[in-house]
Amino acid sequence: MKNEWDDLEKQIRSCTKCPLGKTRTNAVTGRGNLSAPLMLVGEAPGQQEDEQGIPFVGAAGQLLELLLEALMISEDKYYIANILKCRPPGNRPPSDIEAGFCLPYLRKQVLLVKPKIIVCMGATAAKYIIDKKARITAIRGTWTERKGFSIMPTFHPAALLRDESKKILMWEDMKKVKNKLDMLEMVSMQQTGHDNEI
Ligand code: URA
Repeated sequence: MKNEWDDLEKQIRSCTKCPLGKTRTNAVTGRGNLSAPLMLVGEAPGQQEDEQGIPFVGAAGQLLELLLEALMISEDKYYIANILKCRPPGNRPPSDIEAGFCLPYLRKQVLLVKPKIIVCMGATAAKYIIDKKARITAIRGTWTERKGFSIMPTFHPAALLRDESKKILMWEDMKKVKNKLDMLEMVSMQQTGHDNEI
């Protein structure tokens, strides 16, 4: 497992499949628990993430952290990554071509982490993970079950910085995520308990 993560990290850090490989400062793989039950997916690194090589360390990341703390979703419960590993200049949305080159890295991350729940934060993550034509305002807060994953689309935390009224909506969506996480934990504890009894 460690080797697979090391290989993936190397591939991402040396990737030049699309032109963003030339403009980035650092490629940004992900951070968090490598076997977390929850995976959060954003769009692409911003300026601070590009400088530090770590996802969600800027203003949007700080807001997300506050939200997760308030919901008592502790750091050991999640892994966080993006659709794109390199920053698009000026933070423009990823192109389909860039996403096409980059998505295999995210798929590998999902394969290695094996999360039970995936949260698509924002229109870009929802577009490439759930449905190309979906509108985030229409699908947010509703579960999609696919290939054994429970997938929840919600707003990107950066959208909350622009529009305060979205805060309560993302809170409601993430409460559903927290409830499912708690339920999964309870089921797994019960199963362990039963195993011990036999
Ligand atoms: N926005 C994202 O989508 N990802 C980051 O890592 C930072 C900001």
